Order: sequence, then structure tokens, then C-alpha cells
Amino acid sequence: MKTLVIANGKGGVGKTTDAAHIGFHAADRGLKTLVVDLDTGNLSKTMRHHRLEISASTLFVDEPPHVPSFDQTLSLLHADRLMANVIYMDLERACANFRVNLDLFARQGVDLCVIDTPANIGIATITALRCADAVISPVEMEDYSIEGIKDMIRVIAGAKQQNSRLQFLGLVANRVDRRNPRHLRHLQEVQAAHSKLMAPVVVGLRTSVAEALAAGEPVWKSRKTTARAAGAEMRALGEHVLGVMGVAK
Ligand SMILES: Nc1ncnc2c1ncn2[C@@H]1O[C@H](COP(=O)(O)OP(=O)(O)OP(=O)(O)O)[C@@H](O)[C@H]1O
Ligand SMILES: [Mg+2]
Repeated sequence: MKTLVIANGKGGVGKTTDAAHIGFHAADRGLKTLVVDLDTGNLSKTMRHHRLEISASTLFVDEPPHVPSFDQTLSLLHADRLMANVIYMDLERACANFRVNLDLFARQGVDLCVIDTPANIGIATITALRCADAVISPVEMEDYSIEGIKDMIRVIAGAKQQNSRLQFLGLVANRVDRRNPRHLRHLQEVQAAHSKLMAPVVVGLRTSVAEALAAGEPVWKSRKTTARAAGAEMRALGEHVLGVMGVAK
């Protein structure tokens, strides 16, 4: 099993949207996929049709949980209130438990685990980063989000010191309004400043994305013609991730 974390300390930049689409895409490719909601429930709402009766906080507990065998292609560990207690955990203990408990899902034949994280970089996100194979970081072309890029790069570099396996799959420019000169200027600036760190996918500002997620499906399932471009971009993101991580059926 390979594990991917979606992280950015800024809120509303597209973490959950990307996590959902990467999960849907991997499952469409026939990979046994587990998505994990370490935040407060947006991903759980989108993935409600795929819920296992195990919550995300279970990954942090001392006593390894009983994981029943499951054979569906796409499954969710849903958000729960007990995640709030994780902030009081000792980091080393959180990491040790997370590794052991996540391995129970690897033993169920899961090929890819996609972990969505909250906007604040706390124990939950750091633990996930220390145990993961890869991380991807969505960014918006707004000033506040661009300012946060350096912070995020620092967090990932810190996690890499503890987890040399961790591969950075890049910054994904998200919600780019190509008719907005400010967005285009910011995109050029970010690409120039961080050329080696940019994922080769730019996701445009597309209202169809939110509509599809509210309906519990990926945007490429939407029948609207306006969803076509969004679907192609999200598929490209999924392909990038699977390709670089080397997970394929
Ligand atoms: N490409 C896009 N075009 C238009 N809207 C988008 C796009 N990507 C995401 N959105 C919308 O932007 C909002 C924020 O996205 P999302 O919830 O994925 O961000 P987040 O980083 O997970 O936020 P949080 O930090 O609050 O969890 C959502 O309403 C989502 O539907
Ligand atoms: Mg989110």
C-alpha cells in the first residue's frame, strides 16, 4: 500500500477536492483505494456512499482496531469528534500507533491510501506526513495562499528529515481563473519561483467541481458540458499522482 497526504496549512485551497478526485480516479483505475478524513467532515460528506464503519481517529488509538475484511474498491474512514483528542497526543506515540493501525488496511489489500488533512498543521497532519510515501499541496493564486507556500515547503522539509521516504509530488495550482489577470500573473510568478516544485497540472476555476462533490461524485461523472474541462484536469491530477507514486493495476 502506498500512502498519499494532501496538505496545506491554508484553508479553502482545494485539499478536500483534490483528495476526493484522486481517490475516485484511483478506484476507477481498479486500485483498491482507502480515503481518510482527518478533518471535520467535508470529505466524509462527499464520500458518504463509500463509508466503512471505522472512523479516522481509530488510526491513532493504542489498541489496534479490528478491521473487518472489505472488498469494495473505494472506502472511507470518516471524520469523527475523537480526532479533536489527537492534539493532546505525544507525537511519537501518535506516529507509532498510526503506522501499526494503517498497516491493518495494507493487509486488506489496499493499494492506495489518500489522506485529507485540516488547514492547521497539527499533530494529525505531521503524523500523516511522517508515515506517508508522498504529499501533494494544492495552492490558490491569491496573495495569502502564495505567502503560505514557503511555510508549506518548510513543513514538508521537516517531515522529510524524519521520513526520508516522503516524496513531494508538487504544488498544484488550483482554482485558477484564466480570465483573471491577477491569477495569471500570480501563476507565472509561482511557476518562476518554484519551477521544480510545481506539479504539471493546473486546475481552473470551475463551478462544476463543487456541484459534483455535493452530489457525492467526481466531476467527470457530471453530464454538464461545462464539467468536461474540469473532469480532464482532475483526471490529469490523478494520473500524475499514480504515475509518480508508481501505483498501477
Ligand atoms: N477548481 C475549482 N473550481 C471551483 N471551485 C473549487 C475548485 N476546487 C475547489 N473548489 C471549491 O472551493 C472550496 C474549497 O475547496 P476545498 O474544500 O477542497 O478546500 P480545502 O483546502 O479542503 O479547505 P479546508 O482547509 O477548509 O478543508 C469548496 O467549496 C470547493 O468546492
Ligand atoms: Mg478540506
